Amino acid sequence: MQKLLDLISEETKRAFDAAGYDGQLGRVTLSNRPDLCEYQCNGAMAGAKQYHKAPMAIAQDVAAQLTDSDVFAEVSAAAPGFLNMKVKESFVRDYLRQMKESDKFGLQAPRQPEKIIIDYGGPNVAKSLHVGHLRSAIIGESIKRICRYAGHDIIGDIHMGDWGLQMGLVITELRRRQPELVYFDESYEGDYPEEAPFTITELEEIYPTASARSKEDEDYKAEALEATQKLQNGVRGYRALWRHIMNVSVADLKRNYRDLNVSFELWKGESDVHELIPSMVRMMKDGGYAYESDGALVVDVKQESDTKEMPPCMILKSDGAALYNTTDLATIMDRMERYHPDKLIYLTDKRQELYFEQVFRCARKTGLVNEKTTLVHIGFGTMNGKDGKPFKTRDGGVMPLSALIREINGEMLKKIRENAAEKGYEIDEKEAEETAKTVGLAAVKYGDLSNQASKDYIFDMDRFTSFEGDTGPYILYTMVRIKSILAKYTEQGGVLTDTVIQSAANDSEKSLMLELAKYNAVIEAACEELAPHRICAYIYDIANAFNRFYHETKILSEEDGQKKAGWIALLVLTEEILETCIDLLGFSAPDRM
Ligand code: ARG
Repeated sequence: MQKLLDLISEETKRAFDAAGYDGQLGRVTLSNRPDLCEYQCNGAMAGAKQYHKAPMAIAQDVAAQLTDSDVFAEVSAAAPGFLNMKVKESFVRDYLRQMKESDKFGLQAPRQPEKIIIDYGGPNVAKSLHVGHLRSAIIGESIKRICRYAGHDIIGDIHMGDWGLQMGLVITELRRRQPELVYFDESYEGDYPEEAPFTITELEEIYPTASARSKEDEDYKAEALEATQKLQNGVRGYRALWRHIMNVSVADLKRNYRDLNVSFELWKGESDVHELIPSMVRMMKDGGYAYESDGALVVDVKQESDTKEMPPCMILKSDGAALYNTTDLATIMDRMERYHPDKLIYLTDKRQELYFEQVFRCARKTGLVNEKTTLVHIGFGTMNGKDGKPFKTRDGGVMPLSALIREINGEMLKKIRENAAEKGYEIDEKEAEETAKTVGLAAVKYGDLSNQASKDYIFDMDRFTSFEGDTGPYILYTMVRIKSILAKYTEQGGVLTDTVIQSAANDSEKSLMLELAKYNAVIEAACEELAPHRICAYIYDIANAFNRFYHETKILSEEDGQKKAGWIALLVLTEEILETCIDLLGFSAPDRM
């Protein structure tokens, strides 16, 4: 379907044309004086010079052409030459009826569907997830869902940090604790046990212990570095231990991400491209791109137009070891060969901005990607506590994700019990806990996604979990309210599928209808700009418009059956649109709360 604003603009362009002016002047925008009109066109002012005419005269000529338009109920010229417009109730009604009937509410497929790989999540195996990983998962998941829904072919890759020093640290700590394990016997040639010599709980304790020891003990650190190198060089026992660490951790990661309603098509990691590094390095050397500098292998990525410092991209350290850059570049090479993507999107903290600039430039310069492939880094801001500093636990430590989720769910549970008591209904413990999880996730995700990703934001537990204001729970509360009206309508014998949207009976109904009608414009913009916050703003406006309509209208007690059915049809559409939008944001709504 065409966008509502485009239809309105077309009608106005025709009027400019018919009145003898350039049709292009007829572009319409949302009114910035909603007290006066719904839409406005400033074309008469723009045309005044060209036609040597007072803008007011032009505006009047155009308005005269629109007196019996099917689109406009009212078009008036206002000094010094604005066109103030209100659309016909029947025009909006027909538009919504068509939306209701169309696949994806009339969203148009992209002109050029793209193949996209999105790299998000990025957990480090053996280390626990912390709030920094939360933003990557939340924003990445939503962008993936939006692009997929809009009609692109998008694959999510978790890109685990599974090949670095943390692996060597875990192995070293194990070796110190249990030197008798068969994995450390270099003369052993048999099969290794199927069962890991540790549980996830043990692993969660082993890594921090090892990490702390390596900071105090030089020998320990050296041993861990050596273990990392042995692992990467393929020492059998170390590889076997690494596989155990991976199996135990990945199972745990999958549980964690499932609880966040986040899923990945590809569970690849840095280790997957290890074998590709030598050929990539050879290619970079043969092409004359990589050269030795202080023993290390680097590629210059500076450009003449640079105003900021742009250090070379390091490919190998002086001891020949691969770095974070190396695996990222090899991963680009691998992705290009396997999937031929049109676009690669990365989600990390914005402190990695310079890093990705270097990597992208290096990938282009060395021909790992072709001209047609777009490389995008979305750098997000920090989630801060109320003190404006990065979010911490009460005692000042890095907040593990699980602790944060536990806190939110606890707070949500309290609110849900309070609400049930206030409304006077019974809610059993099990339902209350399930609902708290659903609403808690919405609170966290909406609190995050409603901000522009690049901005820092303050994680405010009270605000995020509130049933009022620009919050996830408010959106869900509105949906629950609609669902409950629809359920009552059905109980009274009404049939939802028999209802048809009617012309708006009052202003608040029309406002709600006009909000809903923005759907395809919003989704398209959210996809083009990779901006979930657009969808948050849209559903917040819808929730406000709906609640105003709800408070001004006695829906279920309406005597006029057609009128009532029309409202119910509008509620069904509102609820369907909200459901679709929250799914694009990555959360869901309970039946009651
Ligand atoms: N593991 C990294 C971290 O925790 C994030 C990985 C981001 N993705 C990438 N392709 N570099 O900081």
